[in-house]
Amino acid sequence: MVQISGIKAFKIIDNVFWVGAKDWSRRLFDSLIPLPKGTSYNAYLVIGSEKIALIDTVNPGFEKALEDKIRDVVEPRDIDYVIMNHAEPDHAGAIPYILGIASKAKLITTSIGLKMAEIFYGVPIERIFVVKDGDKISLGSKTLRFIEAPMLHWPETMFTYLEEDGILFTCDFFGAHLAEGMFDDEVEDILIHAQRYWAEIMMPFRFSALKALEKISNLDVRIIAPSHGPIYRNPKKILSKYFEWAQGIAKEKVTIIYTSMWGYTEKVVKLIESELIKQGIHTVVYNLAYVDIGDIAKDLADSKALIIATPTVIGFAHPLTMLAMYIAKLLKPPVKYVGLITLYAWGTNADKQLVNALKELGVEIMDTVNINVTPTDNDIKRVRELTTKIAQKIKE
Ligand code: FEO
Repeated sequence: MVQISGIKAFKIIDNVFWVGAKDWSRRLFDSLIPLPKGTSYNAYLVIGSEKIALIDTVNPGFEKALEDKIRDVVEPRDIDYVIMNHAEPDHAGAIPYILGIASKAKLITTSIGLKMAEIFYGVPIERIFVVKDGDKISLGSKTLRFIEAPMLHWPETMFTYLEEDGILFTCDFFGAHLAEGMFDDEVEDILIHAQRYWAEIMMPFRFSALKALEKISNLDVRIIAPSHGPIYRNPKKILSKYFEWAQGIAKEKVTIIYTSMWGYTEKVVKLIESELIKQGIHTVVYNLAYVDIGDIAKDLADSKALIIATPTVIGFAHPLTMLAMYIAKLLKPPVKYVGLITLYAWGTNADKQLVNALKELGVEIMDTVNINVTPTDNDIKRVRELTTKIAQKIKE
């Protein structure tokens, strides 16, 4: 009989299987984040000598794929525990389906997860078993330990650690939106994808991330199994990157974001770019009209400075500039220094508007240069001074 590969489980090590789904076609997450390489919803089956646990499930629409992969290894009705590391529907959306066919299974979650299991998925309370930090369950030959890791990126999030095999199941943490590759070493640019994911999802929660990293620092972690993207069988690199990002360690790097309607703003941006490059600064430029915001997020995650250049539209900053500012405010990048350039024809409030929008980011505004369409010699001098000031600051 012909076997359709999509229904096969993937063995990670003995008695631990990937039973998730790859979503090559998905192009948007949260109706906001572009997914140029699709994504995966990783779920894992852990089989002990006495009990069976399923760790996380899949996005709605992939329930049958999950069921088929489980069935490739065990009968779904034999599952004893369904572990919900995170309640967001891309990992927990198939819980009602799985609890329907695994009729004896208990749902394991944190105390905050309990409420979410009720309101999102209508799981009856008698089927929920609440665990707290450090609690363990035995599957016989395998032991699962639960590690509370709240606000990564929801309040109920936790990790599950398989003690005997040193596998840490972290759900979104250490994830990457990538359908490609089962293991980290199969994806050449894995850290780029991981950084992008970090910036989009985890960067606003840097301090929670740092706490979680400290909490797991004494664990013998041989494999990290997140719920998006490849499994890290070489976890050292990603762990050290996460420590860097969570501490907000940035590079001598400037990200420039701009909008230009008639090319005047773009000319000023080109001047800034060449001045920064001349001063040995790693410079990244994004035209907001064409950009993938995930790329901007990725670069803001390790830039010490940001330069925003915008034309004026009906007295205010271009709407795309304001959208980018709003997203930056949500993502809380570790940027320290900002330069502002506004262009106008007959008057502008864009400078004040941008300064206001930046208030909550806790950045130092190095200068604001307002240019009346074509830069004067004095404007050019000020733009050069601004780039020099920023270059000096980030080299300090
Ligand atoms: Fe991948 Fe927070 O869900």
